[in-house]
Amino acid sequence: MDRTAAWELVTAHVEAAGLRRHLLAVEAAMRHYAARLGADVEEWGLAGLLHDWDWEIHPELHRHPQEGIPVLREKGVPESVVQAILAHNPEGTGVEAVAPLDYALLACDEVTGLVIAAALVRPSKDVRDVEVKSLKKRWKERAFAAGVNREEVEQATTEFSRVCFGGELDLWTHVGNVLAAMQAAAAALDLDGRLAAPVA
Ligand SMILES: [Fe+2]
Ligand SMILES: [Fe+2]
Repeated sequence: MDRTAAWELVTAHVEAAGLRRHLLAVEAAMRHYAARLGADVEEWGLAGLLHDWDWEIHPELHRHPQEGIPVLREKGVPESVVQAILAHNPEGTGVEAVAPLDYALLACDEVTGLVIAAALVRPSKDVRDVEVKSLKKRWKERAFAAGVNREEVEQATTEFSRVCFGGELDLWTHVGNVLAAMQAAAAALDLDGRLAAPVA
């Protein structure tokens, strides 16, 4: 499956603009890390773009993502990507992370939520105005982007760091990397200022 076919699958089954943005954000982060790590950028990007494609069909953690997997296989999604998608919900699927790709997806998934929320509270609605400094502050406000489980993000980052960076990737460097990847994709994410209220 190529990127065009993956995006078609997403747009056919994901209505919510927020979920589309989430998938595009995780895709951007995954492509960024694949490039840095010398991994397959298309493969890693596909895992990011597709990992929640079935959420609106079965928005339950005991059905997502496993019940969407047969469709992915039928469409020719590589097994490495299927594995990463299964491993992003280990509680539901019983599939644990094994490969660098799996750990990367776990580490990038929720962090994007913090960045998106931080961009959307800015009057400019522009992710390019978000700084790591402000994300650090938001991180401590537990009510901010409350769906982003800080402990899970820390845990996933530690594991990703151990597997892919010899333990050298700290949380805030990781957050900064995801932020940079999303800033480079600002237009695709609609976070380039187009959502700002028009000046009267
Ligand atoms: Fe998910
Ligand atoms: Fe996700």
